[in-house]
Amino acid sequence: MSEQARKQSDPSETAVEFSADSKRRFDEILKRYDSKRSALLPVLHLAQNEFGSVHDRVVEYVAKIMDLSPAQVLEVVTFYHMYHRKPQGENHLQFCATISCWMNGSHQLYKSTCSRLGIKDGEVTPDGKFSVQRVECLGSCGSAPVVQVNETYYENLTPEKLNRLINSCKEGNPQRP
Ligand code: FES
Repeated sequence: MSEQARKQSDPSETAVEFSADSKRRFDEILKRYDSKRSALLPVLHLAQNEFGSVHDRVVEYVAKIMDLSPAQVLEVVTFYHMYHRKPQGENHLQFCATISCWMNGSHQLYKSTCSRLGIKDGEVTPDGKFSVQRVECLGSCGSAPVVQVNETYYENLTPEKLNRLINSCKEGNPQRP
């Protein structure tokens, strides 16, 4: 099973325990913080990368290894838009919906993308390639409108640039910004 397929498989069928590599990275993260609790955000990133989302069993696992309650972990997961409770598409497109981006056409870009891909906010295309999400300010207001694809920002977007970006993602080779 490919990594992507593994990440998108039914969470209830996927074992929730860090791989040896993630365990090593977990130990490295903890060394950078005075208290274990302070390391929760990077540990959640690590867990999301490993398991594809932060579903209930991941919340329980992280709570256990961080000596926290599941409720404490869930509070953090649901506060930040960068953590996902369900698996996302291979290319997760986050459209900034805050004022600078909105005034520069982000909503039209978002709507045309949903229409082109045939999905709504929070949904994943049937082939697992794309998901879309509206998010609050991505912190790059001076180069609005902005879309974040996985970890990469695409700024000063136009409909043409966005089309080229989506085409390149479909081909499995996302263009660089
Ligand atoms: S308003 Fe879009 S990045 Fe700030």
